[in-house]
Amino acid sequence: MNMTNTPPKNRKVTKAIIPAAGLGTRFLPATKAMPKEMLTVVNKPIIQYALEEAYEAGIREFIIITGRGKAAMENHFDYPYELADTLQKKGKMAELESVTNILPKDARLYYTRQGEPLGLGHAVWCGHTITGDDPFAVLLPDDIICRSNGNDLRQMIALYEATGQSVVMAEEVPQDRTGNYGICDPAGPMVNGTMPIKGFVEKPNPAEAPSRSAVVGRYVLSPRHMALLANGKPGKGGEIQLTDAMATVAQTDGFQAHQLQNVRFDCGDKVGFQMANLYFAMNDPYIAPRLLPFLQQTATKHERRQAPREA
Ligand code: G1P
Repeated sequence: MNMTNTPPKNRKVTKAIIPAAGLGTRFLPATKAMPKEMLTVVNKPIIQYALEEAYEAGIREFIIITGRGKAAMENHFDYPYELADTLQKKGKMAELESVTNILPKDARLYYTRQGEPLGLGHAVWCGHTITGDDPFAVLLPDDIICRSNGNDLRQMIALYEATGQSVVMAEEVPQDRTGNYGICDPAGPMVNGTMPIKGFVEKPNPAEAPSRSAVVGRYVLSPRHMALLANGKPGKGGEIQLTDAMATVAQTDGFQAHQLQNVRFDCGDKVGFQMANLYFAMNDPYIAPRLLPFLQQTATKHERRQAPREA
């Protein structure tokens, strides 16, 4: 592992770490016996959206960090022999395609367990034996990023490959929400959707936040992060924070923030999860015309209930 400041030889980003060991307490009881990453948005589990986005961006090796009770996730991406056989015999070819070709054949999946919940930095570090001295992307699967306006991750990878500087996805959040995110400390203005960064602060109080530019679920990181995480000390909340390693790299090597160009749904939150379902449902030619009248009626009834009664 590269422990020095020397630039890594390989700049091509083809590996991604997908931390998926979280308990999903916000969705209990649904997540009592099912990984939160397997909750469905229309007809696909949340985690599938992240893998499809990453594959489209050029990722070919996926390192999924799992934990106890997450076997359903591994089964989902496996070849389902019995199901495939049954669908084949019944001539259900579209359904067969949807379960056998979730990712193209050149995608390779690795699973490794995070034994203890020591924080996001530790979860990412658990992938170090597979990333080795290579740069890597990190995708937090709770965040579903739409791609109607291009693939943001692909642009981040292109920026890393061109500059050798690590890149985070950033989105402006209201001042009173800085305590929910890692926050960028800008080293200069945003130009053409890219901003140089000199540091990061994990979940600062609004009064101490260096900006309103929040780090949201996508990263392209140099291998140096793994060396720093190997010696990671507990930070905010007693957890080994990815943000702390990033702050060190920002100081020594520089860092870039890429302004999100698309809509993001935080599916780790009940509201964001429902919005994602509605958004993708309304993009589905079968569901949209059938769902829309119901949505309109529901909204009208709701507005009537909320309207103040006339005296
Ligand atoms: C993590 C990171 C935080 C980042 C956020 C994005 O926090 O620690 O820096 O802004 O993901 O979703 P978590 O949401 O896991 O508490």
